[in-house]
Amino acid sequence: MAKQRVLSGVQPTGNLHLGNYLGAIRNWVEAQSEYDNYFCVVDLHAITVPHDPKTLAADTETIAALYLACGIDLQYSTIFVQSHISAHSELAWLLNCVTPLNWLERMIQFKEKAVKQGENVSVGLLDYPVLMAADILLYDADRVPVGEDQKQHLELTRDIAARFNDQFANPETPVLKVPEPLIRSEGARVMSLTDGTRKMSKSDPSEMSRINLLDSPDAIAKKIKRCKTDPIRGLSFSRDRPECTNLLTLYALLSNQSTAAVAAECQDMGWGQFKPLLTETAIAALKPIQEKYKEIIEERDYLETILREGREKAEISANDVLGRVKKALGYSKPL
Ligand code: TRP
Repeated sequence: MAKQRVLSGVQPTGNLHLGNYLGAIRNWVEAQSEYDNYFCVVDLHAITVPHDPKTLAADTETIAALYLACGIDLQYSTIFVQSHISAHSELAWLLNCVTPLNWLERMIQFKEKAVKQGENVSVGLLDYPVLMAADILLYDADRVPVGEDQKQHLELTRDIAARFNDQFANPETPVLKVPEPLIRSEGARVMSLTDGTRKMSKSDPSEMSRINLLDSPDAIAKKIKRCKTDPIRGLSFSRDRPECTNLLTLYALLSNQSTAAVAAECQDMGWGQFKPLLTETAIAALKPIQEKYKEIIEERDYLETILREGREKAEISANDVLGRVKKALGYSKPL
């Protein structure tokens, strides 16, 4: 039986942090041999909020190189850049015209980001989930690994696909495949180092709130040294100790131990003992990724070849689906 297709993407806004890695990419790597995977760098999404044209291309390459450095294996996975395949923009337009405006106005992420933007909210920010739907539907993806914050967008993708099929296809021959979420049994939610109740996030203005995959050992040490803790003696996973729970979770994930093992190991520790342990563990866990990253980014030709081959392969599926959609909508073939 053919493997199920998985699609996911990351925006090239700055660096990747431990939340991106432990909450997403590491899981993609672990499951990749079971699926036929497509991982893209979603650089069209990156301009839905103000961005810097000077760094966009380099940031995009950084994410692609980090995919490889984290262990994405080309034997199982295709890596490509969203903007290199024009079908993404084109399908987004076509889907715009079957998506009711109020479906987009309801999106929680839009409402949250729009508040931060004030007057400057672009139509693109509202339309972000339709572009994401295009990303997924262009590859006939069976499964989309999603965290809590993207669940609503995947639901929307399913609704758009079903509506399109309902309006423009026969029930026996649907045009768009309705994707399912890929939910992990043990979810990792990595929280901010400065506030254990909020997710570690690229958009947090404080660099101290996150550990980036490319942070130097000194930077990692400094961030852990200054991170928020609590004054309770002995460490434990507990609902009313969000910072402590987060740091123990990080330690468990980075040292590949179960939470039970970590709870036992750390129950009598104070912060003075635990912080150096976590620092050492984080530095050691990131070292191989950083070394591999350096190799890849210094060999530009290699990365360019991978992205070209990725584009060529991805384009086959994308153009096929786009052709089906245009046909269903009644367009003539270009002459
Ligand atoms: N919106 C996703 C995020 O911020 C990124 C994304 C864009 C994506 N297109 C996608 C994720 C398609 C999965 C599938 O995390």
